[in-house]
Amino acid sequence: MSIDVSRLPELIREKKRETRARIGDVEKVLAEVEADLRADVDEIAALRARGEAVIPEIDFAAVRAGQVSDAAKAAIRRRGTAVIRNVFPRSQAESWNEEIGEYLARNEYVKKAATRDAGDRYFTSLKSSRPQIFGIYWSMPQMQARQAASMAEARAFLNRLWRFESGGRTHFDPDRECTYADRLRRREPGDASLGLSPHMDAGSVERWLDPAYSEVYREVFGGNWRAYDPFDGAFRAETQEIPSPAVCSAFRTFQGWTALTRQGPGDGTLQLLPIARGIVYLLLRPMARDVPEDDLCGAKPGRALSLVEQWHALLKPAITPIPVVEPGDTVWWHSDIIHAVEDQHTGKGYSNVIYIGAAPYCAKNAAYLDRQKAAFLSGESAPDFSVENFEVDFEGRATVADLSDLGKKQMGLAAW
Ligand SMILES: [Fe+2]
Repeated sequence: MSIDVSRLPELIREKKRETRARIGDVEKVLAEVEADLRADVDEIAALRARGEAVIPEIDFAAVRAGQVSDAAKAAIRRRGTAVIRNVFPRSQAESWNEEIGEYLARNEYVKKAATRDAGDRYFTSLKSSRPQIFGIYWSMPQMQARQAASMAEARAFLNRLWRFESGGRTHFDPDRECTYADRLRRREPGDASLGLSPHMDAGSVERWLDPAYSEVYREVFGGNWRAYDPFDGAFRAETQEIPSPAVCSAFRTFQGWTALTRQGPGDGTLQLLPIARGIVYLLLRPMARDVPEDDLCGAKPGRALSLVEQWHALLKPAITPIPVVEPGDTVWWHSDIIHAVEDQHTGKGYSNVIYIGAAPYCAKNAAYLDRQKAAFLSGESAPDFSVENFEVDFEGRATVADLSDLGKKQMGLAAW
């Protein structure tokens, strides 16, 4: 059962009482966490000042050959982020970009979108302008990218950065993937409508109040935050989110996207706060006495979890733009990584991506596939998202006949 939102203030007070009883001197622990994270923030600022890379980058060829060094893996775990280049050939990504444009034009997406109320509070700023995020899930290029062998290999590599077995239990299968059908971004130069302030997905108040999340963060709430491992898979796939079009109800080891156009700093694209342990600060900051007793530093049910200047200013200087990526490159970030989208697109070309994360096989994701299957077959919006159902009568959308054997398994339409 998900959290009883009507009892939220009471539940928050209870959590704080319980956590303080376990931690003891919360202010002292917070000071330690702050000192630890400040070192990371300063290091990132210094790297950026010297023009050095902050977000780890690897080439897909190394992933495929099993030749990613232990140092590179450790860097990804520490930063919670990665760019994997050349997952697809440039020409492939560019033709997908064209094809999506034709699919949207042929089916008059923009005209249809203008006449509908998306009802998606996550992107309320979109109201007045042309869409930049498209409620499209089932175009041929999206399906082809999701079911590509190279994408499966990239995701297995990322899933394997996690500890997926412990205590005699398997938390998820890193080598089998569930397709989590997400949308598209096609952002035009000059657009100022899409900016997303720094946030993380996968739940807000759940991180304190959901019983499985309390296990995920047991070391943090138990006063032993240095022992917390962001890549420990135990209980991760057992959390229960408050249903909302702003909250992902599948388990993703990494969120991610595939670039269809060249994009980098200033192009209205992604920024990341590349500190995997940054979540510790967000979890403990509300326990301090200067935060109202029934408040979790602004966390709101059914919304993304925001970085709030008043409470989390410490981390803000570490927010880092992604490096320039080319068509066919992919960007990934751990589900506890704070990320943002630049307010303004000041570049010259479209910044277009297909959102494809890594959702390894587990009971939670298999259950999601059961719900998602029906949406795919009828062309409706994927179940986690606003009920827009644009593609129900779209010409040229992907069908079962377009799925490979792997694609069918990933969609839950064939047994592994
Ligand atoms: Fe997000």
